[in-house]
Amino acid sequence: MSLCQKRRDFIGLALGGITAVGGVLALGAMKQTWDPLPSVQSAGFVTVDLSPLAEGEMRTLQWRGKPIFILRKTADMKKNEKRDVVAGNKDYTVIIGLCTHLGCIPSWVPATKQFKCACHGGEFDASGVNTFGPPPRPMDIPPFKIDGEKLVLGEEGPEYQKLVATKA
Ligand code: FES
Repeated sequence: MSLCQKRRDFIGLALGGITAVGGVLALGAMKQTWDPLPSVQSAGFVTVDLSPLAEGEMRTLQWRGKPIFILRKTADMKKNEKRDVVAGNKDYTVIIGLCTHLGCIPSWVPATKQFKCACHGGEFDASGVNTFGPPPRPMDIPPFKIDGEKLVLGEEGPEYQKLVATKA
């Protein structure tokens, strides 16, 4: 191997290392963006501690590559027996944050207590039910299990099965 070739190999390895470090840093930054609640991830399940959520607060996290909206409902938000997730006597909306029209990510608007989709003007109420525009149905509820004030995303607990049965 010539000296020149050795140098090229070394430069290639060094650049590869820099790229790998950059990738890890980017993943870390993404995790911070997507994981604003204390949560633990293992084998496709994400355990989220709901207790830090204040009334009316909406947070987004990522589960299996999808945005999940978690909103702690306030007393003045309409109850929805078919969709509300109850944990520790508090009501939450837990939905996959993808518009049911063409899959854009709606935004939470605290002033009007609605999710609004900027793509074609679709609107959803605080329970994720479509109320205006082209979305044909409510946003989906991901499978979950309740464990005290913790939510386990990805596991079908009795509370989830009850919601699914009520919907049918
Ligand atoms: S994708 Fe949301 S209204 Fe069309």
